[in-house]
Amino acid sequence: MKLQVNGIEHDVDAPPDMPLLWVLRDVLHLTGTKFGCGIAQCGACTVHVDGAPRRACVTPVSTVEGKVVTTIEGLSKDGMHPVQRAWTELDVVQCGYCQSGQIMSAAALLAKVPAPSDADIDQALSGNICRCGTYQRIRAAVHRAAEFGKA
Ligand code: FES
Ligand code: FES
Repeated sequence: MKLQVNGIEHDVDAPPDMPLLWVLRDVLHLTGTKFGCGIAQCGACTVHVDGAPRRACVTPVSTVEGKVVTTIEGLSKDGMHPVQRAWTELDVVQCGYCQSGQIMSAAALLAKVPAPSDADIDQALSGNICRCGTYQRIRAAVHRAAEFGKA
């Protein structure tokens, strides 16, 4: 099947029910997207499908054929997406394992809601679990990214 990932069309030979996460990591070698739980409970595998956040671990690859998939590697060309800038400035990351998913969820939120409230942020990122407890910095960084987005 043909898959559009990070602006590149790939010919992928994979079973239609293979999870998108497996295809991204093991076939396309885009390992920025992480495997946490495999059952849509942790958010580590979050990518964008047509701009909306999607749990890649429970998304059969055939369902994204003809759609636009974006992973953390494709969020920006130079790591300067407002969310990435804010994450760096506020030093959000601890172990880092959950952070690709956090960033992709935050970027999808800001694309829809340019100036989110605390409640908007908490709701949009409620499915992204951080074992290191970086939630306070994540929330602050989303607000900071919203300021960058205005600039
Ligand atoms: S690995 Fe997909 S939600 Fe946890
Ligand atoms: S930074 Fe370690 S799990 Fe979130």
